[in-house]
Amino acid sequence: MWINGEPAPTPRDGPARHTEMAVWPIILKKGRNVIAIEGRRVGSFGQPPCVAAALLRHGDGLKERMTSASVGWKTLVAAPAGWQLPDFDDTAWHSAERAKGSLPIGEPWPLTPASRLRRGFSIDKPIQAARLHATALGIYQPWINGAPLADRKLAPEFTDPSKRVLYQTYDVTALLKPGANVLGMVVGDGWYGSRFSTSARFAFGPAPCRLLCQLEIEHDDGSRTVIGSGKGWEIADSALLEHSLYDGEIHDARAEQSGWASVGGTAAGWRPASVIAAPAIPVEPQRCPPIRVRQTLQPKSVTRLGAGHYVLDYGQNFAGFPRLTVTAPAGARIEMRFAEMLKADGTVDQANLRTAKARDIYIAAGCGREVYEPRFTYHGYRYVEITGVPDDAGAWSLEGLVAHQDLAETAELRVGDPVIETFWRNSVWSQRANFYGLPTDCPQRDERLGWMGDAAVFWPAAAWNMDVTAFTARVMEDARVSQSAKGAFPDCIPPFVPTMKLSSPGWADAGVILPHTSWMRNGDTGVIRTNWQAMEAYMAWIEAANPDHVWRKQRGADYADWLSVDAPTANPGAATTPKDLLSTAYWAQDATMMAAMASAIGNIEAAARYRSLFDAIRTAFNAAFVVDGKVGNGSQTGNVVAIRFGLLSPETMRAAGVALAADIARRGNHLSTGFLGTPHILDALVMSGQEAAAITLLTQRSYPSWGYMVEQGATSMWERWNSDQGDVGMNSRNHYAFGAIGDFLFRRIAGIAPATPGFGRVRIAPIMSPVLGSGGATYQSVRGTIRTDWTARDGAFRLDVELPAGVEGEVILPGGRKARAVAGPNRYSGKL
Ligand code: BGC
Repeated sequence: MWINGEPAPTPRDGPARHTEMAVWPIILKKGRNVIAIEGRRVGSFGQPPCVAAALLRHGDGLKERMTSASVGWKTLVAAPAGWQLPDFDDTAWHSAERAKGSLPIGEPWPLTPASRLRRGFSIDKPIQAARLHATALGIYQPWINGAPLADRKLAPEFTDPSKRVLYQTYDVTALLKPGANVLGMVVGDGWYGSRFSTSARFAFGPAPCRLLCQLEIEHDDGSRTVIGSGKGWEIADSALLEHSLYDGEIHDARAEQSGWASVGGTAAGWRPASVIAAPAIPVEPQRCPPIRVRQTLQPKSVTRLGAGHYVLDYGQNFAGFPRLTVTAPAGARIEMRFAEMLKADGTVDQANLRTAKARDIYIAAGCGREVYEPRFTYHGYRYVEITGVPDDAGAWSLEGLVAHQDLAETAELRVGDPVIETFWRNSVWSQRANFYGLPTDCPQRDERLGWMGDAAVFWPAAAWNMDVTAFTARVMEDARVSQSAKGAFPDCIPPFVPTMKLSSPGWADAGVILPHTSWMRNGDTGVIRTNWQAMEAYMAWIEAANPDHVWRKQRGADYADWLSVDAPTANPGAATTPKDLLSTAYWAQDATMMAAMASAIGNIEAAARYRSLFDAIRTAFNAAFVVDGKVGNGSQTGNVVAIRFGLLSPETMRAAGVALAADIARRGNHLSTGFLGTPHILDALVMSGQEAAAITLLTQRSYPSWGYMVEQGATSMWERWNSDQGDVGMNSRNHYAFGAIGDFLFRRIAGIAPATPGFGRVRIAPIMSPVLGSGGATYQSVRGTIRTDWTARDGAFRLDVELPAGVEGEVILPGGRKARAVAGPNRYSGKL
């Protein structure tokens, strides 16, 4: 960069990676100035074009921004010597154009400090109740009379802010007092303003960040006082110098202004906040429980690497925030870097986080014991490398705050094989780490997006572990606002990259699978009714493009059996199972679910229509993909989906089971399935008479298997079967998709399944395998606690079942013997 012909000194950091903006301090003169920038393309993948912005700070604190998107910039690919000089004649140059491409580039806007806003007001009548409603295009944290409202994290949670923004409501009755009060707000980037994936900041809407809030006070005499955002607010930069979801925070505690949100707090550096017209975006209440801190972890080990330099291991991969407590001199710069792995030298390995910096920097104020907790970022990690802390162990500590969507945890699984139990616990950890406003794929790298395929395959497992009722409703609201006019559900919510708007089999099907799962578990047909039209539109959209009932057309990005074992590392969506076979099978599953949901809401016509749709798909599937009793190319996933979704005749199903078990055996008792086959492989084996093979596969310890991850020390679910060796470019240690067999574990190992939606009747059919020795679960169903416990040894079994009042059970015992279970304890025993 050149300013008025003089080279501007290169800034200290970056831009090292794409989408990152380097910041040059520049001095301009009065009158005409010329900024010259030379940009070079250094790679081929996902690089945005060159963008630049000048942020002018005027003497009165006002800021003005000039960007390369604004008029007046000139450009040329190869410029003659002297082009940087102020008097160079550029009249023949082209006017710069705003880049168009497949990827959004966001706004050229370097990181800026979060803003503080405050408004003083007086209360002169007794208070009956007071509520604060607030939201931001960005992220915010309210303060009242000097204290933060710290309960909710990362509000407002992730939505497509061009479609809808959620507001939150706080009961603040106890925080107000008669006389003078102060309402404060810290406002920053959040999901609205942070850079996303390959995009720069503000990919979802125009800069800058905005606040909308309303404090409603009801008085004893029935009157109301309303303090809203608008005139009368003051604004100043906060001590939070930088913050972004992927990169973390830089917090300079020396710049804190104590009492900024208190009566009589200092006013130095504050100015009136601008009031702007609210953009025309629906602002809706958040009905789902928020993200909250649910557990606090202490490090399992603290290793000193050098002066003030340590690595902490929490023994658990999780998502959340650090809480640093430190006594350090003013200006001490404490840096925390977060990671899922360590390098051989004991430092953190952030290679798999791609461009996410995943670090927080705290600059101490030097005022005794200080506590810092980042609020405008979160991290997915097990290890933290910290530098700049005092070498006295008593002078600092770092806790791990585990945060996630605050949904009730509803299940406890018990299995005699401890590896399987650990695997299930790991899958619950990955659920916690990825229930962050939306169901995300991962909590750590520069992605953390609402990929629907991951949710679709994991939801039946997720719905055991937590009460997903409110979360399903919330996710479906976002799926509906992103649905295309023709009915296509997106692959990812929000679909801010054009390819995410597409509908891929297994991904878009989440639009049917999520409501079906929620209804089956809680019996509430509300989720069906609310989503019925959207689901019908989706089904019609597939059928319109595929009238012969093989889903060949409109398969979007077609990720298919993503990350299957046989797919090359560089092409995780390669067709190891014919893609049209897989799409057609998932379409058939949609039809089955739609028929059941139609009956549940009394729509007889639609129920019949979806049953015939299923029959038509089944017939077409057999004609297209079953030749001489062989399904597709013989891949495991091909057989799995054909068996599991009821697409085969009894005879072909048995043959497919034999073929599936044989392929597993040929691979040394290993699976080869990816995202779409794995969730169903154990069920498919059991359904087709290969129960022993299912147990062998479940208890496998060597690669590829669930047990392998556990034995390698995983504390959460891996993205890839070989995450210990696979490509670091896409290799998270916290992806829940392969944890989808948690559903099988509850239904077939613990043996609890809803015989009717909402567990009015329960089917108890555990596979009491002597290989496992014992099993069972305690599940908080909507009708009360259901418990099973069994042992199988020395040729005999014993099964205990406990049902809540009003719930009946049909029990299937070894050998197919049927029995009844009633409310209260029931016991069964016999020979295996
Ligand atoms: C995500 C996956 C997701 C996929 C789409 C990946 O980058 O991490 O879990 O479903 O993209 O195929």
